[in-house]
Amino acid sequence: MPRRLQNQFDQTPMTLAQSATQVPPNLTGRLRGLQSTARELPDTPVEIRGQVPSWLLGGSLLLNGPALWDLPHGSYGHWFDGLAMLHRVRLAPGDVGGASATYRSRYLQTDDLRESLAARKPARAAFGTADPAGFFTRMRHLRHPKVTDNGAVVMARIGSQWVAQTETPLLTSFDPDTLATTGRIVYDDAEVIHVMSAHGMTDAQGTYWNVGLEVGPKCTYKLFKIVQGSRRREVLARWSVRQAGYLHAFAMTPTHAIVWQPAMRLNAIKLALSGKGFIDSFAWNQAQGSRVDAISLTDGSVRSWAVPAMTGFHAVQAWDEPSPDGRSAATLVLDLCTNDGPEIFAALQMERLRAGQPVGVQHRVQRYRLEPGRSDAQPRTLVEGASVELPSVHGAYWGKKQSRHAWFAGFDPEGKAPMFDRTVKLDLDGGRIAGTWQREAAVQMEPLFVDRPGSTAEDDGVLLVPTLAEGDTGTVIGVVDPASMQCLATLHLPQVVPFGFHAAFKPAWMPG
Ligand SMILES: [Fe+2]
Repeated sequence: MPRRLQNQFDQTPMTLAQSATQVPPNLTGRLRGLQSTARELPDTPVEIRGQVPSWLLGGSLLLNGPALWDLPHGSYGHWFDGLAMLHRVRLAPGDVGGASATYRSRYLQTDDLRESLAARKPARAAFGTADPAGFFTRMRHLRHPKVTDNGAVVMARIGSQWVAQTETPLLTSFDPDTLATTGRIVYDDAEVIHVMSAHGMTDAQGTYWNVGLEVGPKCTYKLFKIVQGSRRREVLARWSVRQAGYLHAFAMTPTHAIVWQPAMRLNAIKLALSGKGFIDSFAWNQAQGSRVDAISLTDGSVRSWAVPAMTGFHAVQAWDEPSPDGRSAATLVLDLCTNDGPEIFAALQMERLRAGQPVGVQHRVQRYRLEPGRSDAQPRTLVEGASVELPSVHGAYWGKKQSRHAWFAGFDPEGKAPMFDRTVKLDLDGGRIAGTWQREAAVQMEPLFVDRPGSTAEDDGVLLVPTLAEGDTGTVIGVVDPASMQCLATLHLPQVVPFGFHAAFKPAWMPG
């Protein structure tokens, strides 16, 4: 390691992870969010500029995401694959009625992290990373493959227990205050699930919901829940398809779970035998198209609609629309961020992102009306010219009722800026961009909507937006008013938080 970098590392506590980091690429400006140089920091003061709403104080913004892509003998090739780090920004009352904040960070102590640090290279297969195990080793574990537990994508709860996860069934629990890893969730059942939506959801009762996939000659989807205090995956519905679509998330209404099958179709044999990265076992199938499945929460029955071929990671929202006479079955409505083709997966490879190459894939929000008695649905693009992803709405609306507006990370319409470069408010019903918040020459990630306690108006809360501009010394969290899209305050963190995907907010009243 060059002396300059070694000296730099010596200035702060060095962890096992950093000691194993190979020389990171010399990234500058906003692309520093793609470096492997984040440290485990103890509670460290955060500079606050502006006015933080008092109702946020006592709460913590939690971020997880990839942080370590580079090891001495090998690197992860895809953005999704970096080893996970947890970050916490705790807000507290400050002097003379103001606010104060501290930041801390810890690696998620997973088996994958331990094995990869020991091997000094990626130890397990990942989204875009080949399985380093030999063919015969893989065959020995054919029914129970050794998948990654690198929970770099989503944080959710089973009751008051926080878990971090990726697109595998392995949940890692952590303490939301210290960020210490507290163990692996050991299920009290015999369900076979190989692949799982990264977006486990926690309802108001603390029940964890998710959709898993048993991969085989036929692939079987399983909608399940885990109630607080239990470790049993209670399967509410099973339905089989010949070739499953790429599964990242799902949506819920008060009556149904909604699962979409992108046209990226899984080749189960390739997944079992090839040893390639997870996404390399999928192929775009335009002719087969896509499907949307709706699973009744009452009786587990499944209805399905054929839709045009698409790729979709995230639902904006979904709701039940009663029939006009109130006596027939409701229409289910799903707003989904979609794009065409398989290009988005390759566009997020580290080599391209670190070169500053724009993502270059047009995204849009499409509305699917899943009408009873029909077997297909034609989506409608809601806002022409708005290329957005990473949606967020008020918590009282998500999974419950329709929100007219939603908030997103937006792409540069001219297609020149790397990653996302703005925070966008869309009027989904009015078909227009209703507001934008943008720092100059910055990457702006998911705007997490934190609703004001007790609020019911869809824009009553704040957006918490991780950003990194060219001259920032560390990540800057924007505290943005979702109604006006004005920035109320900025939180200046003591280091660059590597670009991640999703955040969570633990309010002061929440135990655990
Ligand atoms: Fe996601």
